[in-house]
Amino acid sequence: QELNGKTAFITGGASGIGLGIAKALLGQGMKVAIADIRDDHLEEAVAELNGGENILPLKLDVTDREAYAKAADATEAKFGKIHILVNNAGVAALGPVELASYGDWDWTLGVNLGGTINGIVTILPRILAHGEGGHIVSTASMSGMMPHGGAATYTTGKAAVVALMETMRSELQGRGVICSAFCPGAVQSNIAEAGKTRPEKYADTGYAQSDRGRQMAGDFMHLFQTKEEVGERVLQGILNDELFILTHAEFYEGVKDRADAMVASVPRHLPENPEYKQTFSMLFR
Ligand code: NAI
Repeated sequence: QELNGKTAFITGGASGIGLGIAKALLGQGMKVAIADIRDDHLEEAVAELNGGENILPLKLDVTDREAYAKAADATEAKFGKIHILVNNAGVAALGPVELASYGDWDWTLGVNLGGTINGIVTILPRILAHGEGGHIVSTASMSGMMPHGGAATYTTGKAAVVALMETMRSELQGRGVICSAFCPGAVQSNIAEAGKTRPEKYADTGYAQSDRGRQMAGDFMHLFQTKEEVGERVLQGILNDELFILTHAEFYEGVKDRADAMVASVPRHLPENPEYKQTFSMLFR
């Protein structure tokens, strides 16, 4: 689809991956609203993007539904219709599952899944209403595709985001809105600082997530992809209408093993019931 002159709304768009996506879309001649909870990130992003009137920085906490609607209104007031929604704002709290507190669960799921839901409830009807078509990209993670230990609150939200994009993709097929699950491996970003935006009401934590995150990022950052690399990858995914947008070749065997395990578990020795298959054909793509 032609992106030039159209509008994108990117949450968490002022840092890391969201900023990389903003750069790539701006490069296509898009107008871009970057919505972020951190004022300092917004300021730095505006300077880095250097996009003049094609950039709209918006202070937004994606868990605040009223504020979300106002941010969408402000974007439409400045740029007109919104065509691309990137649900990207995300936080991480890592540690053993038995230590995760309600605060850990509620904060991470509230931003990573709840923020995505708020984006869809607020902006999808606006995209459908203008009828010019659109694209919804939600930043999940490889952790949402291949869940691993030490990250239960994170992988749960990310796997849900993948499921949501798959669901919406089939449901919106033929109505001009494409949905993609963006599943990056490790990317250079500020996510190790996520604890700075953790609300006081969720302060109770079962593990010192920010310490572990910071340590990991410090040790291995040089191995991670850059925000520009993944921004370009998302752009390609949008242009190619990809359902899954993956970034790292290193995960090939893991993804294949997981898919193979599912395929091997299908009891193909049992006869298929044609009536069941026809009645629920939407399940058997
Ligand atoms: P980042 O911390 O550099 O960027 C995230 C931005 O979201 C920050 O500017 C932050 O202020 C903002 N944010 C946090 N909570 C918010 C809220 N409630 N409302 C609005 N904005 C909020 O981190 P990064 O890594 O760029 O993260 C972006 C997305 O990518 C997240 O969903 C993350 O889970 C996902 N991801 C990151 C990976 C990585 O290795 N960095 C790998 C896989 C997925």
